[in-house]
Amino acid sequence: MRKPFVAGNWKMNMDAHAGVELAKAIAAGSVNIAGGQVDVALIPPFVYLQAVASAVTASHVAVGAQDVYFQEKGAFTGEISPAMLKDVGCAYVLCGHSERRHVIGEDDAIVNKKVHAAINGGLLPILCVGELQSEREAGQTEAVVSTQVKKGLAGLDGERAAAVTIAYEPVWAIGTGLTATPQQAQDVHAFIRELVAKLYDAELAGAMRVQYGGSVNAANSGELLGQPDIDGALVGGASLKAQEFLGIIKSAV
Ligand code: 13P
Repeated sequence: MRKPFVAGNWKMNMDAHAGVELAKAIAAGSVNIAGGQVDVALIPPFVYLQAVASAVTASHVAVGAQDVYFQEKGAFTGEISPAMLKDVGCAYVLCGHSERRHVIGEDDAIVNKKVHAAINGGLLPILCVGELQSEREAGQTEAVVSTQVKKGLAGLDGERAAAVTIAYEPVWAIGTGLTATPQQAQDVHAFIRELVAKLYDAELAGAMRVQYGGSVNAANSGELLGQPDIDGALVGGASLKAQEFLGIIKSAV
């Protein structure tokens, strides 16, 4: 059985004080709810990683970063290496989040390098994929997601691919209040799992966690996470409120 995994992507929000308070509230609140039955991660901006990691020490809440650079070190002004993320207590890192792809302009080749660098550096990548509204309307959802998954995982053998979580986040559902219906999401998740089985094998596909993201909140998470191929959530806006995020964790148990 796949253990559910709920992660809160804070994006470019919070400040040091509010971030630590939120992290403490989630660490304290999730002990009683999840108690180890759900993996939980907080993904704050780089500058608050260390403070958030300290705030959740001794809890089962893990910390992740929103991005990573693919070089180990050197003259890459403004970038952050996998070793630096490990150094401040990160376990996870997002690779290819929709806002990195569509706002910053990252392509699949860069995302793939980041996935490799993360694994080489001992981090667990969360590979984010998802189609634009226009692509869904044009019937291209599977083609787009397939390309992103294949190119994102390119060059990884099965052992290394086992470190990856995939997050399916339809771009039209991110921050819009529009959510994929549980059936729409389930269909794409099942498609991703079949694809992973073809690229690797049924065992790896059966073990790989595929999170759903896009306007997930405490009110809609139960039905989404109840789908057989949805193994958790990657949450944006609702992860900034402790009670809302704890409600989502609760629905994953
Ligand atoms: P929202 O939950 O705010 O739609 O964001 C989803 C997301 O992009 C998480 O990575």
